[in-house]
Amino acid sequence: MSALITAKDLSFRYDKSERRLLDRVNLAVNAGEAVAVVGLSGVGKSTLCYCLSGIIPHVYQGELEGEVLLDGMPVKAMSLPQIATKLGIVFQNPDHQLFSFTVEDELAFGPENLCLPREEIDARITSALEKVGLAHLRLANPQQLSGGQRQLVALAAVLCLQPSVLIFDEAMSQLDSDGKKRIKEMILRLKAEGKAIVMIEHEPENLEVADRVLLLAEGKLVPFAGVLPEATEG
Ligand SMILES: Nc1ncnc2c1ncn2[C@@H]1O[C@H](COP(=O)(O)OP(=O)(O)OP(=O)(O)O)[C@@H](O)[C@H]1O
Ligand SMILES: [Mg+2]
Repeated sequence: MSALITAKDLSFRYDKSERRLLDRVNLAVNAGEAVAVVGLSGVGKSTLCYCLSGIIPHVYQGELEGEVLLDGMPVKAMSLPQIATKLGIVFQNPDHQLFSFTVEDELAFGPENLCLPREEIDARITSALEKVGLAHLRLANPQQLSGGQRQLVALAAVLCLQPSVLIFDEAMSQLDSDGKKRIKEMILRLKAEGKAIVMIEHEPENLEVADRVLLLAEGKLVPFAGVLPEATEG
C-alpha cells in the first residue's frame, strides 16, 4: 500500500535557533491508518505538523532538509491552497481557526476560495455537518457554541475541502470528555473512509484510536510502547 503522507529523512532547525528539532525523521502513513505522536512539551511535535502540512517552509522558515510527500508530491513544490485540498490540520485551539459569524459561512470559506460552484459548496457543507453531527447548528454563531462544538466546526471546515490526510495537533486537549469522545469517533470514522491521520496526543485514553504510537525525542521519531513521558504544559 502506498502512503498518503511520507516524511523522508526530514530535518529542521528554525532560523535563529541552535537546536535541530527534527533530525532525519522518517514517517509513512497509509490510507485508513492513524498514527499518534507523543513527546514532551517543546520537543517539536507541532513543528513536525508544520513540516507535514507545508506551513514549513511556506509560512515559517528555517534550515529544512529531506522531504515531505503528500500523495507522492513534495509539499514544498505545492502552494498552500493546493495543499489544503489534500491535507487538513486541526489545532489545539479552534478559536484560531474560526472567524465567521455563522457555521455555514465558516464552512463555505475554503470551498469558496477554490471557486467551487454554489451547489457543490452547499452539498459539501451539508455532508460535513452531518458527519460531525452538527447539522442543526448550520446557522449558529460559532462563538456561542461550546469548545467541543467549535472544535467540531473547525474539523467540518477542514472536511469541506475533502482532504485525504488529516492532522490533529492536540485537538482534544481543551475538550471535555464528551467533546473528546466525539472527536475520537470522528477519527475512527475518517479511518474507515480511508483517510490517513496523524494525531499529536499526550492523553493515554486518546491514543486508543491510533494504530501506532511514535515518540518524538531528541529529533528522532521512534516506536513507542512504554510509559508516556511526564507531560508538562507549555
Ligand atoms: N515559529 C517558530 N520560530 C522559532 N521557534 C519556534 C517556532 N515555533 C516553535 N518554536 C520553538 O521550537 C521548539 C519546539 O516547539 P513546538 O511547538 O514544535 O513543540 P511541541 O512539541 O509542539 O510543544 P507543545 O507540547 O508545548 O505543544 C520550542 O522551543 C519553540 O519555542
Ligand atoms: Mg505543540
